[in-house]
Amino acid sequence: MSKTVFVTGGAGFIGSNFIFHMMDKYPAYRIVCLDKLTYAGNLSTLASVLKKENFRFVKIDICDREGIYQLFEEEKPDVVVNFAAESHVDRSIEDPEVFLKTNILGTQILMDACRKFGNIRFHQVSTDEVYGDLPLDRPDLLFTEETPIHTSSPYSAAKASADLMVQAYHRTFGLPVTISRCSNNYGPYHFPEKLIPLMIANALNDKPLPVYGEGLNVRDWLYVEDHCKAIDLILHKGRIGEVYNIGGHNEMRNIDIVRLICKALDKPESLITYVADRKGHDMRYAIDPTKIHNELGWLPETRFEEGIQKTIQWYLDNREWWETIISGEYQNYYKNMYENR
Ligand code: NAD
Ligand code: DAU
Repeated sequence: MSKTVFVTGGAGFIGSNFIFHMMDKYPAYRIVCLDKLTYAGNLSTLASVLKKENFRFVKIDICDREGIYQLFEEEKPDVVVNFAAESHVDRSIEDPEVFLKTNILGTQILMDACRKFGNIRFHQVSTDEVYGDLPLDRPDLLFTEETPIHTSSPYSAAKASADLMVQAYHRTFGLPVTISRCSNNYGPYHFPEKLIPLMIANALNDKPLPVYGEGLNVRDWLYVEDHCKAIDLILHKGRIGEVYNIGGHNEMRNIDIVRLICKALDKPESLITYVADRKGHDMRYAIDPTKIHNELGWLPETRFEEGIQKTIQWYLDNREWWETIISGEYQNYYKNMYENR
């Protein structure tokens, strides 16, 4: 069976890994990547698929209603998977507005297009941050799909608002939707503003490693490929209208991650610098993935020790990718590649 799958935000971290997974596993599918190429989107990430016949890249803002409608009319997608978002909590604290536009309005426009062009299947890639945080002294508590929404940052508030809109479009208009809420991902092509790639890049450049507060906050890390496999399963076998939590049962304190990176790269822990804490900093995230395990048979396959080694090796082998980004050069990439084409 052949399908056309729209992947929004596919030039970013998880979206690109998802495109690689889908193109590898379903060679008969047509994949169309819709991405605005914000600072976080990087066309060079998609270099290995750009020339494939069953792949198309379209530079577009998901908030551009007219352009989105035109593309739906032209490509007639069977499925839309929405990764496009402003994704960095610290940026949402500095300037929330674009988070509301892209994460809420953009999601709504995509769903309007899904309704207009034939009640198209829509999957929303959401986050465990919609549940707020958990205390450090209650390791027995985990987020389930029934945990109330209780957000902290403008980023998580915008993602939660989008989730509510997705559920409203299902209940009110009968749009065939699913939502997945995942914990922290790590792996190749992770933008170096996030904890793990930032620490790897800084350590390799012998620069200070800025740990917020005391570094005691806990995140539940999942290798990105395992997240992609879970979304694939939800698309093909998930129950319409349902929310699925995705997580690796892999809770770690930030400081322990940073120490581990220092050790793996043979860098001194004296690089670690404690800096002012993030405002409203969530203490602990921990996902209970029982539902997706019981219903769809999903389990994380990559142990953290293996995943972090693979990730560190990827950053060692792909220095140009992240050095171009941190030098600001990547902004020119799109121009260089397409201006005289
Ligand atoms: P990212 O920041 O690496 O990538 C986001 C992509 O979206 C970029 O390519 C960017 O250019 C594109 N984009 C942004 N605004 C757009 C717009 N208006 N129109 C079209 N494209 C636009 O993000 P990521 O870490 O890959 O996260 C992807 C999704 O997964 C997000 O929805 C995020 O909320 C969610 N999520 C991320 C994590 C994580 O650990 N990174 C965990 C759970 C959920
Ligand atoms: O839980 C899922 C979420 O994970 C996703 O929805 C977000 O899109 C994604 O960015 C991520 O959010 P976090 O805020 O948890 O990720 P970040 O990498 O920004 O930070 C991880 C932890 O590390 C957090 O406790 C803050 C801390 N930190 C982060 C940076 C960038 C530092 O101590 N120093 C830093 O320089």
